[in-house]
Amino acid sequence: MNLTEYVCVICRRPLQVDRDDRLKCASCRVKFPASKGVQLLVKNSKDLIRLHQDQISHELSTLQTKVRQARTNKTPSDRRLLLDGIFAQKKNLILLKNLMRASNFSSTYRTPSKTKKKIWKDDQKGTYWRAQQLLPYFVRDWHQTREYKHTLKMFLGAIKSQKKMPRDKVAILASGASRLAYDLSAMYSSAYAVDNCVPAVLLVKEILSGKKIELLMNFPSDSYALKQQRIKIPAGQVKRRKNIQVIVADIHRLPFESDSLDTVITQYVLDIIPNHTLLFLEIHRVLKKGGVWINLGIPGFKNMADQNNHLNLSNILSEAGFKLQKKKLMLLPHLELYEFSRLYTTMTRATLFFVAEK
Ligand SMILES: C[S@@+](CC[C@H](N)C(=O)[O-])C[C@H]1O[C@@H](n2cnc3c(N)ncnc32)[C@H](O)[C@@H]1O
Ligand SMILES: [Zn+2]
Repeated sequence: MNLTEYVCVICRRPLQVDRDDRLKCASCRVKFPASKGVQLLVKNSKDLIRLHQDQISHELSTLQTKVRQARTNKTPSDRRLLLDGIFAQKKNLILLKNLMRASNFSSTYRTPSKTKKKIWKDDQKGTYWRAQQLLPYFVRDWHQTREYKHTLKMFLGAIKSQKKMPRDKVAILASGASRLAYDLSAMYSSAYAVDNCVPAVLLVKEILSGKKIELLMNFPSDSYALKQQRIKIPAGQVKRRKNIQVIVADIHRLPFESDSLDTVITQYVLDIIPNHTLLFLEIHRVLKKGGVWINLGIPGFKNMADQNNHLNLSNILSEAGFKLQKKKLMLLPHLELYEFSRLYTTMTRATLFFVAEK
């Protein structure tokens, strides 16, 4: 019996290696899919795969309808603008679709489900991100924009200031484009990048294995496309690292043993999840005693009536068993891509940075 570093997200017993690199739980009898070294460790893996596949197909057919509408535009220059904008979105979606297709994940779900009319319900926003929404994050991270470098420095500074903290295991939760996970992996023995957006995680894996990716971005945005730009990812050379694992999991049900991580990192996620309490308890469970959680993001928790709830942070954290070590509220650019196009409008937002200890 070959046990792994992961635990079952249902019963929390250690998982075993099944066939290929798939894992299984001997006690629940659940098998977890894997593809090209990406483990999919969620309770309802089939639904999650289908959700993303259907979303991509749905979006592609919506764009097809938009193409037909655009062709009826009588002004040639407007027609061109519309069609170019749609083409860029389609190109990126096809990249994501092909990634899903090429993975083992899609083998059982080649045909989109006909039954579900509305694919992405509004109440699922936050919990399930469309992969195409994350593409600007890939550009920001893998091109190491000024914004990226600045926030990386804050995380590195916070980690280095923990003089007594071992640097064995770190998990980056809701890691998105995951460059932060890649850079932090240089400081730890093992790093885990965790996200539940399956196509985005597959894209991260491609980048980490040295594949060149090309995106076609609309500026200033998809819904107001004035200009397109080809952006190659990664811009620099990505050295392969064996100590970083990218996994698909729900951050509320992590596949890690209790008291097993030295550091947990979250960035731009606390403001989007429906209920912070569950997540706080889960982060507390997986951290070792004395381990630290470092967060940067938009202040405020979605499920609390008081918008200024971050001002009560030390109490909120202590209810989940944490001690607030450091807190800083500042103004930072968010998803600033104007290094690629002057058409991109910069959004400066109130940003909360904190370090909490278990
Ligand atoms: C605003 S993006 C931030 C991405 C990254 N942390 C960053 O700062 O660039 C939010 C991310 O949270 C992920 N996410 C949201 N809910 C999640 C959940 N329940 N489990 C895992 N990932 C989740 C999304 O897929 C997306 O990648
Ligand atoms: Zn189990």
